[in-house]
Amino acid sequence: MPALLLHFDDQAQAARELAQACGLPSGEVKRHRFPDGELRLTLPFAEPGASGSLPIPETVVLYRSLHDPNEKLIEALLIASQARAWGVRKLVLVAPYLAYMRQDISFHPGEVISQRQVGRLLALDFDAVITVDPHLHRIERLDEAMPVRQALALSAAPVLAQHVADALRDECAAEGLVLIGPDSESAPWIAAAAQVLGCRHGVCSKVRHGDHEVQIQLPDLPVQGLRVVLLDDIASSGRTLAVAASGLLQRGAASVDVAVTHALLAHGALDVIRQAGVRHFWSSDSVAHASNVVRLAPLIAPALAVALQD
Ligand code: R5P
Repeated sequence: MPALLLHFDDQAQAARELAQACGLPSGEVKRHRFPDGELRLTLPFAEPGASGSLPIPETVVLYRSLHDPNEKLIEALLIASQARAWGVRKLVLVAPYLAYMRQDISFHPGEVISQRQVGRLLALDFDAVITVDPHLHRIERLDEAMPVRQALALSAAPVLAQHVADALRDECAAEGLVLIGPDSESAPWIAAAAQVLGCRHGVCSKVRHGDHEVQIQLPDLPVQGLRVVLLDDIASSGRTLAVAASGLLQRGAASVDVAVTHALLAHGALDVIRQAGVRHFWSSDSVAHASNVVRLAPLIAPALAVALQD
């Protein structure tokens, strides 16, 4: 078997869509948690000579978004090194959400630079990593953090923008719409999305004082009576979007909708966002959630095809 796409049950649909788009067979990794918290993982193929399972593929594509990352990282490393030990030649990680990318410097003395260390760990066994909107703030390219042969970072901003265009088509024309990024780091996504929407756009400046405390200064753009869409890579505690949304509504925006790539949504985050007055909350299927409206398989498939050819 030349290549097999592995997935877990929680992202089976998105993974199978990708496998289908690339013409790959797929198989599920079974997972058992022992009472003490350790994990037993069972692959759909087995050591050479074992009966009753699939033959060992030449290439394994592991589809695993790394939200709630600590266990998932261990799982990915266990699978990759076992597959290698059984003779798999090439390993590709498709992690629509790649964890630990925000800690990209020591913000305080002694802080571990997780972005670099997680990158090095994944590079031990994976030949290629494909992800979507990784939080690369102080570096330009993913391979600066991830020393694999192919490190491919895609952007969901244009497809999220297309969803916004379709959803708001009947409500307003481009002149009635404003696209806002909640912090300066969102500037690249905002620029890419604004091209699709052809509307005015700007970014806020943000100062974070703690996990649940952010201060946001809105851009100098008129929003009175206009439909505003906030676009960001990640919604985690929801505070960034909530603070930006209430500021925009106080300035007279007719509505504030939100589109994010990764709906990480820590406990209570969606309530915080809704209570701030956000009307629609849309996300991509990088992390499975009821708000998923944009499927990433068509975006990822061409990149995976390139990684498989190389
Ligand atoms: C950070 O700069 C990101 O772009 C997001 O704005 C941030 O991670 C959102 O975090 P939270 O939802 O906890 O405010």
